[in-house]
Amino acid sequence: MNQKKRSTSADRSPRPDSQSNRLRNTAPSGHTAPVKRRRQDDGRDVERLALRRKYQQEKREARRASLIAFLSVLLVLCVSAVVSVYLITRGKSETGIVDVIKLQVEGSPTVQIKVEDVINDNILYIDFKSVATLCGFRVTGDASGVEYSFTSSSGVINTICFVYGSDKVTVNGHEISMPGKALASDGEVSVPVDFIRENIIGLQVEYDEEKKTLSVTREKMTGSTPDNPKYEELLLRYQPETPLNPIDPGKQDEIPAISFRADLSEYEQYMNPEDRDAFLLLVNKANPVSVDYAPDDLEYIPQKYAVYSGEYQARMRAIAAKALTAMLTEAEEYGITDVKSTLAYRNYWTQNYLFVTYIEEEMQKNPSLTKEQAQKIVETYCAPPGTSEHQTGLCADMHNVYGRPDLELEDFEHTEAYEWLRDNCWKFGFIIRFPRGKEDITGYQFECWHFRFVGRYHAYKIQESGLCLEEYLEMLASEN
Ligand code: DAL
Ligand code: ZN
Repeated sequence: MNQKKRSTSADRSPRPDSQSNRLRNTAPSGHTAPVKRRRQDDGRDVERLALRRKYQQEKREARRASLIAFLSVLLVLCVSAVVSVYLITRGKSETGIVDVIKLQVEGSPTVQIKVEDVINDNILYIDFKSVATLCGFRVTGDASGVEYSFTSSSGVINTICFVYGSDKVTVNGHEISMPGKALASDGEVSVPVDFIRENIIGLQVEYDEEKKTLSVTREKMTGSTPDNPKYEELLLRYQPETPLNPIDPGKQDEIPAISFRADLSEYEQYMNPEDRDAFLLLVNKANPVSVDYAPDDLEYIPQKYAVYSGEYQARMRAIAAKALTAMLTEAEEYGITDVKSTLAYRNYWTQNYLFVTYIEEEMQKNPSLTKEQAQKIVETYCAPPGTSEHQTGLCADMHNVYGRPDLELEDFEHTEAYEWLRDNCWKFGFIIRFPRGKEDITGYQFECWHFRFVGRYHAYKIQESGLCLEEYLEMLASEN
């Protein structure tokens, strides 16, 4: 830049030759006296000399400026080269700043792994083998994938199954999606770090972006020391399926005696209705109800057990609302005070609204889906209008994860409140309507929040048999 400026200003200076030409052209011709002419010539020489000096001076300055500019550029290039070499060398050799990540798994030596081997599609991966070693998991595998397992202190086997090349992973029988695909690596598998972070409780997975260090440690119990570590028990986010508690298997036709902590005597007539077969109505895709089907004895469940108020306050048929009130009253005696119903009765049009909205949501989530494909997905968790038993007023969705955008409805399964309801709901006449393992029969995914009133006798028989409502009714029909 400087160089250019200088040369431009130098160009603007008059040149001695042209100056002399100009002087020559303007010199008077002919009759001037010699002395006078000589004086004039002297004056011209002095002027020429001054101009030449000035020109040379400017030329020198321009050259110097060019040199300075050149040296500056050279200096910048040298410094950049030195810094680059330093960073590359440093990254490769010690701290992993540039192209390696340090993996620190408790109990294993720290290793450095090339970034390209742990980051795939911008997702940070970890070799699951190192995690499995720390956790003491057993491993089995074949060409399609690998299964890790461990036995909890209660003797229940927990499993995690990865399929190579798939982002689907099965955790204790529950299929979930990982942020990236499971990558095969020498009979083992690399999986997204976030999968571990979210699904194995009792492991601490931390990634220090600045130091490019990924560390995996187990949570310790009090009294744990570095020499003698005592680990907290590991828990998977999705628990192994535990069979519904068999109830008094010796007495096939009798309902065991029940005692409640709360005084529920006034609710006995509702929980255990005299007409014990009156609430076995089956509504599903094969047994729809009409658009205008509506029970005529709907009532609001008490506000303290309903999430919403006003026109959205949950309603059920009177008998079911009372039995549900009894159930949540008794639950309170066990410290379960936060279970409430979101929705119970839904008319045809509310169900239609939900169904259509879910289809739109599925298509937004995955724009490559056709409407038919989106509908097929929705039909695994939301009944098409006219086929939902919510329209009967005999069921309620209830849980304690309302108002918790950080939790999924499915998370309710892992709460004490769910366990209590699962084990005790039959006493109040309710069943878990869409149990795990019966998806092919009910047509729906397991819903830990959907409770259906059938009355105590049948609720007991259903829970004791392990059948779903469809199977149970078929069994009753075949017996008659
Ligand atoms: N979620 C249940 C299947 C319903 O929509 O009725
Ligand atoms: Zn429901």
